[in-house]
Amino acid sequence: MLRDRDKEVIWHPYTPMKLRPESIGIVKGEGVYLEDEQGNRYIDAISSWWVNLHGHSHPYIASKLSEQLTILEHCIFAGFTHEPAVMLAERLLPLLPGEMKKIFYSDNGSTAVEVAIKMALQYWSNKGQRKQKLVAIEGAYHGDTFGAMSVSERSIFTEPFNEKLFDVSFIPFPETGREDEGLRALEALLNENNVAAFIAEPLVQGTAGMRMYNPETLEAFFRLCKQYDTLIIADEVMTGFGRTGALFACNGLETGPDMVCLSKGLTGGTLPMGITATTQEMYDAFYDDDILKTLYHGHSYTANPIACTAGLASLDLTLDETCEANRKRIEARHREFAASVKGNNKLKNVRIQGTILAMDIETGAATSYTNTQRDIIYKFFIDRKILLRPLGNIIYLMPPYCISDAELEYIYSAIKELTDKI
Ligand SMILES: Cc1ncc(COP(=O)(O)O)c(C=O)c1O
Repeated sequence: MLRDRDKEVIWHPYTPMKLRPESIGIVKGEGVYLEDEQGNRYIDAISSWWVNLHGHSHPYIASKLSEQLTILEHCIFAGFTHEPAVMLAERLLPLLPGEMKKIFYSDNGSTAVEVAIKMALQYWSNKGQRKQKLVAIEGAYHGDTFGAMSVSERSIFTEPFNEKLFDVSFIPFPETGREDEGLRALEALLNENNVAAFIAEPLVQGTAGMRMYNPETLEAFFRLCKQYDTLIIADEVMTGFGRTGALFACNGLETGPDMVCLSKGLTGGTLPMGITATTQEMYDAFYDDDILKTLYHGHSYTANPIACTAGLASLDLTLDETCEANRKRIEARHREFAASVKGNNKLKNVRIQGTILAMDIETGAATSYTNTQRDIIYKFFIDRKILLRPLGNIIYLMPPYCISDAELEYIYSAIKELTDKI
């Protein structure tokens, strides 16, 4: 069995290997389903760590990739360029929030953030100004590399490395009714006049437990940054490509970011790739005869043509009107579910942002990533052939957009069954 062979040779991410040694061996993916080696089919209600947009093994994406594989599989991206990278940049830039004019490719969400941090710090040093502080929001998660960890909440994820992380200021999360606290804290920091950049997960903090806040507050954060000449990094790694309703979470704002980080849904969940998009003004600060003003950052697989082709194919599907209709349909079903569980005292803080539905399960203990009911809740859904990976006692749905009403209904009724049992 795959499961047993795996135990001999694999070390899994985010997995306490002694406590959770069992891995389900997946042999096939099709639409919203993942099929294991015993023929069980699981609904992938979380899009496999939030990456899959259009269903697994999508035939359209597959055909584009197989064609590209026979044209150009990879080439160095310094001194050379290629059609998929240029075309993806040409097509994406006009869709992004703000005035994005350049695309910098990397490998994943963490590197997209890492690049944005480096761009922000070097932007100011290239301009001869000493702005070196970074500001983030409490609860933030921006990835697992050292820069990305530094701008993330200090937590059990970062604990062994905290001493090595650089100093970042965190402002309070803008809970409903307490938005002013975050705004005041941000303004106080910006007033010191040494803030290089502010980074935020727009509208939804994913890993913190799908914590949601309103666009007016995001707008107010961004406006303050502009007022104090501080760069804005919008980390749309999770929220991008329609998750929050609009194509990008920052799309409706009047104040645009200076950098946008993308990954996850970028390739429809097919291949790893990251993007840091930026403005002409940012780019111009590096455009110089002095080679010391160069952004010396890159990865061997930067702008891999197959990954870029996956990005293009996924974008075709995302921009198709059926995709938008599906996103609206999912949001409408979530709202019906939320109305149907009003008064269920086992489900607290039921919240929706576009296609994302989240809620806290009342377990008698505090809502937290280390809530002891986590494994019980995970198993409950796996037993019902639903992949729904709780963040502690917080459960959420972030399904591929092709999920049917019947499949959603099946998941909703499993959630209601859970509340009867827990
Ligand atoms: C908002 C956000 N930024 C960055 C990352 C890191 O992305 P990756 O896991 O691809 O490194 C994540 C991953 O969950 C994320 O949610």
